[in-house]
Amino acid sequence: MEIEDFSAIVLPVPLPQKLRSRYYGDMQPETSQHPLEKDASTIQKSGLILGIESSCDETSAAVVEAGQRVLSNVVASQIRTHARYGGVVPELASREHLQNIVPVVRAALEQASVTLDQLDAIAVTEGPGLAGALMVGIMYAKGLAFALNKPLIAVNHLEGHIHAVLLEAKENQNTPIAAPLLALVVSGGHTHLYLAEERAGIWTYRNVGKTLDDAAGEAFDKVAKLLGLGYPGGPWIDWLSPHGDARAIPFGPINIKQKPYREAAAQSPRFLFSFSGLKTAVLRYVEAHSMQANIAVRQVALAKIENPGPQDALALCDKETLNLIASFQRAVIEDLLRKTLSAAETFHVRSLVISGGVAANRELRRRFTQEANRRALPLAFPSIALSTDNAAMIAAAAWPRLLTGYFATETLSAEPSLALG
Ligand code: KG4
Ligand code: ZN
Repeated sequence: MEIEDFSAIVLPVPLPQKLRSRYYGDMQPETSQHPLEKDASTIQKSGLILGIESSCDETSAAVVEAGQRVLSNVVASQIRTHARYGGVVPELASREHLQNIVPVVRAALEQASVTLDQLDAIAVTEGPGLAGALMVGIMYAKGLAFALNKPLIAVNHLEGHIHAVLLEAKENQNTPIAAPLLALVVSGGHTHLYLAEERAGIWTYRNVGKTLDDAAGEAFDKVAKLLGLGYPGGPWIDWLSPHGDARAIPFGPINIKQKPYREAAAQSPRFLFSFSGLKTAVLRYVEAHSMQANIAVRQVALAKIENPGPQDALALCDKETLNLIASFQRAVIEDLLRKTLSAAETFHVRSLVISGGVAANRELRRRFTQEANRRALPLAFPSIALSTDNAAMIAAAAWPRLLTGYFATETLSAEPSLALG
């Protein structure tokens, strides 16, 4: 769904008690407990959580019941705003979140046929992400929780991506995903491997792998930009790759050469990724094969098309370019696959979860499915809609916290570098 201009729509939010008394002279005594501090035993737990996500370039709100039934999931994408700059412009992102947050929350409640009063809690992404963008969601969620006198729950965006998969497994009544599990969270900002365990509904995470430089999605975006394709680059490369020969350019396995990292990994198992070398190899190939003129022609031609897509780029790509695209994609997928399977074996996990924007990639899904089947290792992906950023995953991750009374306080703030595990 695309939201154009909703600046005229205002959500009928009652004033918080403290402000109400200041404005209307309502002299109710103030308690010493802060309004956002809740006693877990006194809150309702019918299961309805409003999730809010604004960490990057998608403003999203969702209502999810008991961490397993998505009643609504509204996403206002900013792709059109950022595409002309070839990447997310943080200042523009914050501004669009500000414009979109009210109508998006309103639409999520309407689609779910749920009123604000019926909600048990408000959940919001605390980090990681862009500081200004996160702040919009957090301030709005805080205000709402304060005004409605409902608990506020802070959620780590990366945990949200894992819960996108757990949520759908419960929703579709698939075999529950057995823990300990290994989760590969692979997106525009992250390439992480987490070992996740569950005890009495509470999940704990250990970070056992990460990228030393670019995230996999970032590499897709940068290579697409380098080749004169659109933003975000992942879907363009995904779509164009089957038209090229993935073995044409022999990009080999990516090995971490830096001694300190290799020594640390030998002490306790760590699985390290690095995609900046591959990106440079693509650049060198472009230079060595004098492809720049061709790229410039493609850029100009695509700029003339309104809302261009990868289909428009196909006729503008010669065989050599298509081979380069397919070979680059193969190299990224093979690296993710090799290290993830090796980690799964090292930690004897019972299942594998792949999530985040890059998990939408068709070839990645095919290769992981093939290899997991070969090893009889249960594997789960989110649906395409829940692979990229969305608020349903935030509301789902908040459910165990609601059950255990793990609430945020009024000091909640944006944590741009928040880690998981
Ligand atoms: O999870 P996400 O929506 O946002 C972040 O948290 O970063 O992921 C966005 C990233 C972008 O880098 C985008 O190019 C990549 O996911 N992506 C894909 C595909 N769809 C999105 N990468 C490869 N193939 C795709 N089909
Ligand atoms: Zn994400």
